[in-house]
Amino acid sequence: MKNSIGNTLTVTLFGESHGEEIGAVLDGITPGLPVNEEHIRLRLAQRRPCGAISTARREQDEFRIVSGVKDGVTTGAPLAILIPNTDTRSADYAAMGDLARPSHADLAARAKYHGYEDKRGGGHFSGRLTAPLVALGSIALDALEAKGIFVGTHLKQMGGVCDRDFENAGEDIRSLQGTAFPTLSREAGERMQAAILAAKEAGDSLGGLLECIVTGMPQGVGEPWFDGVEGVLARALFAIPAVKGVEFGDGFALAAMRGSEANDPWRAVDGTVTSPTNHNGGINGGITNGMPLLMRIAVKPTPTIGIAQDTVDLTTGENATLAARGRHDPAIAHRARAVVDGVVALTLCDLLLGRFGTDYLK
Ligand SMILES: Cc1cc2nc3c(=O)[nH]c(=O)nc-3n(C[C@H](O)[C@H](O)[C@H](O)COP(=O)(O)O)c2cc1C
Repeated sequence: MKNSIGNTLTVTLFGESHGEEIGAVLDGITPGLPVNEEHIRLRLAQRRPCGAISTARREQDEFRIVSGVKDGVTTGAPLAILIPNTDTRSADYAAMGDLARPSHADLAARAKYHGYEDKRGGGHFSGRLTAPLVALGSIALDALEAKGIFVGTHLKQMGGVCDRDFENAGEDIRSLQGTAFPTLSREAGERMQAAILAAKEAGDSLGGLLECIVTGMPQGVGEPWFDGVEGVLARALFAIPAVKGVEFGDGFALAAMRGSEANDPWRAVDGTVTSPTNHNGGINGGITNGMPLLMRIAVKPTPTIGIAQDTVDLTTGENATLAARGRHDPAIAHRARAVVDGVVALTLCDLLLGRFGTDYLK
């Protein structure tokens, strides 16, 4: 489906980094859901570049919802949102000529679109296109919260610094909603920000590991085999630019464990089957088991860096060297947490509407 995702609830994304506007269409949304524009603004602010640790590009994200909402609630028609690009500086990219930025999409896009692609600012592949995803995700997050389902993401690791683990998921999710830099430990967050600044100073960039938790997911959502919850979530998360790894529960660490360590033992508590552990991240057989969903998302370092790297000029085919100039994030992962929250919420809404019917969220 190329630029669309979802079965019952679909999201279609469009736009380019330096085009007039970017946007998204949400189709299949339950009618009568409140659309809280203030929440959308807050969540867009969590994604927006902030201070010296981010790109100097400053976008106000003055979004317009042009379809699907009347008197503050969804009508059930496709919900379309537009966000203008106002702070573009395409000359920065013209200066790079036709040099393919290592690890960015320049070479791959040329192979597919034969030079017709809009290369300015990464064009259609830019992280800028995650803004409309965050906006739609905000509506999905509010709808889930009304059903007792809460989503929160923290930056678990960056620059050799680790955040503390989730302890009280409910309180931790609430505290993350109010943080500009998404760590549970303020001290860890300050050390990570210092590491980002040091990388920036060196003309380099940093990757990071995000960890997302979802509480309140009902049991029995998802399908076996090809539409399992892990696969559906992973597909959506891998669409986020710079995401290169997704794992559930203890993920890759499970491979080194024994069954006696990796199994989540079941206990009946007040009429509900639950477990004191959650090595499987809330999913068995592709279907939710009622434990919190837990996933970790690896975000690579920003490809565009100031340090000189080998590359090729796509016009001449000659070898060349690129030391990128212009405005770039020295790290992406902290900004991507709002994107992960939104993408996970939209995906869970799709799964829930598919399982329980399109009025489930009402
Ligand atoms: C919020 C966000 C901001 C980003 N900012 C930049 C940036 O300033 N410079 C850059 O080179 N890449 C940036 N990226 C990453 C690129 O868009 C991405 O690496 C590129 O499209 C190639 O896709 P891939 O890494 O998934 O293979 C950003 C990604 C996100 C999610």
